[in-house]
Amino acid sequence: MLEKIFIDKNISLAQTMPSYFYLKSEYYDLSIEKIFNNSWQFIIDINSLKSKIHPFTLLNHSLNQPLILTKIDDEFLCLSNVCPHRGSLLCQNETNARNIRCQYHGRVFDLKGRMLSAPGFNKVENFPLESDNLTQIPLKKLKNFIFISLNPKIDISEITKDINDRLGWYPFNQLNFDNSASNEYIIDAHWSLYCENYLEGFHVSFVHKGLNDDIELDTYKTKTLENGVLQYTLSKTKKDALKIPNGFLNSNEDIYAYYYWIFPNIMLNFYNWGISVNIIEPINKEKTKIRFLSYPINGKKQPSNSGASLDKVEKEDQDIVLSVQKGIKSKFYNRGRYSSQHEIGVHHFHRLICKAIN
Ligand code: FES
Ligand SMILES: [Fe+2]
Repeated sequence: MLEKIFIDKNISLAQTMPSYFYLKSEYYDLSIEKIFNNSWQFIIDINSLKSKIHPFTLLNHSLNQPLILTKIDDEFLCLSNVCPHRGSLLCQNETNARNIRCQYHGRVFDLKGRMLSAPGFNKVENFPLESDNLTQIPLKKLKNFIFISLNPKIDISEITKDINDRLGWYPFNQLNFDNSASNEYIIDAHWSLYCENYLEGFHVSFVHKGLNDDIELDTYKTKTLENGVLQYTLSKTKKDALKIPNGFLNSNEDIYAYYYWIFPNIMLNFYNWGISVNIIEPINKEKTKIRFLSYPINGKKQPSNSGASLDKVEKEDQDIVLSVQKGIKSKFYNRGRYSSQHEIGVHHFHRLICKAIN
């Protein structure tokens, strides 16, 4: 039996996550099964979806599920990419084919996953059953971003509502994926150490000197949402602030960015130049892939050479996360305390983990 982890609801009394959570494989496996398996995952934006059939692997180092997105006019569906006959993978490449045909024994499905024909099966009784169609996987659109969930137990509707309310004015339809500004990193740290670093602005003045020149840190706000966190802060220079129209929250303030985190591993960062999406993918208990996807607004570009450039800030964050990964292995560290002023996002995250795995 794994020891249950308890994080006090009252942040001013609570102790942080014990180090064994990050170090023991059992907790890692439990996180994949009880958290990632039940989560909503960002897949792609609809403008990047060029074909009617788009195969992909969901979190290939952990959940590792072969799936397909299909597009029928303006409707999007997510289907299993495994043939219900003997389990062959169906699609390897993007295509605009009208149907999905299994390469093994020629069974054919439409883009909704319904079986259309099955060679050699005309003498089979009770055929086809519902299970001879492709399984449909829940899909959700947030503006032009597609999310899917294998088992949608982690409700993100409060987060999507907050984004819709606060950023209803944001030019989502002018966002286009910029591959040249996007990046992937692999770091030798537990996935949740990376996430918890994202969930506080407390370290900014110590770790990110360049960013510290751009933002008004004493205005930093953290708002917890059901299965999410929103952080935002004012811009110092004002010129790089979001231009929020009247009628929306914070319209007369120079907000530098809205940082949304969706439990457990998706970050949507809204800037005046566009959105950066960070996807934190567990590889093993001390290896994590970080995918940075850049979505500039038409005519704008992700800034690349200031002290606050995302690459520089990212490097600084990764270095500090690596130092924590080493530190938690010490015999002289088990768990710490929270700053009740600056670490409510981290506290919320740790409580969400415990609720899911206990
Ligand atoms: S495995 Fe697909 S038709 Fe046999
Ligand atoms: Fe940081």
